Amino acid sequence: MAPINPIRVTERAQKLAAEILRPGDIAVDGTAGKGRDTAFLAQCVGPGGQVHSFDIQAGAIESTRNLLTIAGLLPRVSLHLRSHSELAEVLTPAQHGKIGVALFNLGYLPGGDTSVITQPETTRLALNAAYENLRAEGRIICVAYTGHPGGPAESDVVLAFAEAHAQAGHAIEKIGYYPNPGKPWILVVNKPAA
Ligand SMILES: C[S@@+](CC[C@H](N)C(=O)[O-])C[C@H]1O[C@@H](n2cnc3c(N)ncnc32)[C@H](O)[C@@H]1O
Repeated sequence: MAPINPIRVTERAQKLAAEILRPGDIAVDGTAGKGRDTAFLAQCVGPGGQVHSFDIQAGAIESTRNLLTIAGLLPRVSLHLRSHSELAEVLTPAQHGKIGVALFNLGYLPGGDTSVITQPETTRLALNAAYENLRAEGRIICVAYTGHPGGPAESDVVLAFAEAHAQAGHAIEKIGYYPNPGKPWILVVNKPAA
């Protein structure tokens, strides 16, 4: 499998989300950053849907809020200044098990504080919480990076999550070759039909 172009990786992840999301869906952006993925998910779920978007940096939440306000998408997004590992805690009772897509773009925010990086243990907790709350035929999309300190260890956690699902007979896909130092890759885990 050929490595994927890092510039295209976020675009690819968004296309994978758009394949699944329907109007009225619940979606999760595990890492809000500057808000581009959150805005994209908000467009996909439409005015009747909802996006839960997480970041542990107040500046990232504010950037995301600004982008959504300009785009007129804020009413369909709940912004959470907390770790994505607490994902299940923000869902309403009716939203448990109803997530269409959970998207994680790991690592640090380019142009931001590069010392604030997603961590293997919280990533593992978040992936598990997302899978437990996916609807039938929902999808987890996780973009992982290996070029920064801690990146390979985090990719190993993502890979272990993938392998556990592959062994359980679930449809998973790894886009981009891993391990390939310095290159991003995408894990896709599809929940089977009910
Ligand atoms: C690669 S950036 C995300 C880019 C973003 N999706 C966008 O469209 O601009 C990674 C983000 O993850 C955030 N982050 C790090 N640890 C986190 C955690 N435990 N929970 C939620 N966000 C976290 C960082 O603050 C950073 O903003």
